[in-house]
Amino acid sequence: MSDKNQSRDTFGSKFGVIAAAAGSAVGLGNIWKFPYIAGIYGGAAFLFVYLAFIVAIGLPVMLSELIIGRKSQRNAFGAFKVLAPGTPWKYIGILGVSAAFLILSFYGVVAGWSIQYIILSVKDGFSSKSPEEITSLFTALTESPVKPVILQLTFMLITGAIVIIGVKKGIEKYTKILMPVLVVILIGLSIKSVSLEGAKAGLDFLFKPDFSKLTGDGVLSALGHAFFTLSLGMGTLITYGSYISKNNNLVSTVIQVTIADTVIAILAGIAIFPAVFAFGIAPTEGPGLIFITLPNVFHQMPGGFVFSILFFVLLTVAALTSSISILEVVVAYFKEEFNMGRKGATYLATILISILGVLCSLSMGVLSPYTFFGLNFFDLMDWISANLLLPIGGLFIAVFVGWFFGRKKVREESANGGKLSGVALSAFIFLVKFIAPIAIAIVLMNKVGLLNF
Ligand code: PHE
Repeated sequence: MSDKNQSRDTFGSKFGVIAAAAGSAVGLGNIWKFPYIAGIYGGAAFLFVYLAFIVAIGLPVMLSELIIGRKSQRNAFGAFKVLAPGTPWKYIGILGVSAAFLILSFYGVVAGWSIQYIILSVKDGFSSKSPEEITSLFTALTESPVKPVILQLTFMLITGAIVIIGVKKGIEKYTKILMPVLVVILIGLSIKSVSLEGAKAGLDFLFKPDFSKLTGDGVLSALGHAFFTLSLGMGTLITYGSYISKNNNLVSTVIQVTIADTVIAILAGIAIFPAVFAFGIAPTEGPGLIFITLPNVFHQMPGGFVFSILFFVLLTVAALTSSISILEVVVAYFKEEFNMGRKGATYLATILISILGVLCSLSMGVLSPYTFFGLNFFDLMDWISANLLLPIGGLFIAVFVGWFFGRKKVREESANGGKLSGVALSAFIFLVKFIAPIAIAIVLMNKVGLLNF
């Protein structure tokens, strides 16, 4: 029972911290979700709004979370109990733990698809297939009531197993090595994709903005995705921040993680959109976009067989380094607030989330007639978590640090003996005090119709 509050894990090295936070940030969000929602909401216009949110809101909220976590040395809920005892701030933590449940439920399903695509790649599943067959392969998989459920449960099992091993051995080790390999694969894919005939239309779609295409829903999704892709708004980085040692420079960690995450999303866009246009696939295709686009690219590529195996293996691993960070939010909460052991907490969290995940998976097929506000269960979990819970969580986290934590404590915790200059500190305080909360509030109010643009 030494694995309780008394002995908290910490990350071993400076690179370990960045690797773990980047491992959390880089995942299905960058490679699966970013292209498909950018495709739905107009390409470049969406990209630019998303980038603006990353800089103006993502960066400061990420620093805020790490500050809260490292200062309090607690989980997403406990952190607020330590820093603001006897106040309702702790409910932000409950919001975060709930978001973790919802996100991991559909995340595990998509990761399961990715595992199936490793299997298909190994079996040389794409080389003999026409574009139509590649499309129906995806539909048949996702609509099946058995296979994707088993794959999702397998993925959850692996996630749970790594979380049981613990932060240092589990999380740090697996994130260190594979990220650079992922970047190389994406660059290779991008080169192939850009050289396809008709690729230019895809590059124009991704980089030449037509802001008239932008809708209120598009702006909300860009905001939600800025949070989702950087793992913000639900306490993942509060939890990870609590494992960071006092001499780590948080500001440089935040900047490096944000750059890595953004570069990988843009690379994924360059790998996918030229191919989408070259193969005449609709950019608005939805959650299947990468699964039906990329096999066509592998099909035509020298070495495509090896590339496709490597790509889906790395996608699955990237999903894993994110899913463990999501599960860790719930596990740290169970462990510290209910005094459970790491093992028991992980079993409980994994089982509960897996049950929700089964519903997500089935909602693509047999349960598809059941919809809520026009969305199936899978899309509902995604929508509520990314577009509602994360931005609301992020708003309160920013307000907490900007208004209640105070400049002095922020300086102590972020500067490590004075590394954050006065100007940077003032800029940060200004962003968390005003810009981030006001921007989030405007986007949310616009959605519910309290404001209309
Ligand atoms: N950032 C991860 C991704 O882009 C998903 C994630 C969301 C992880 C929220 C942790 C918390 O895939």
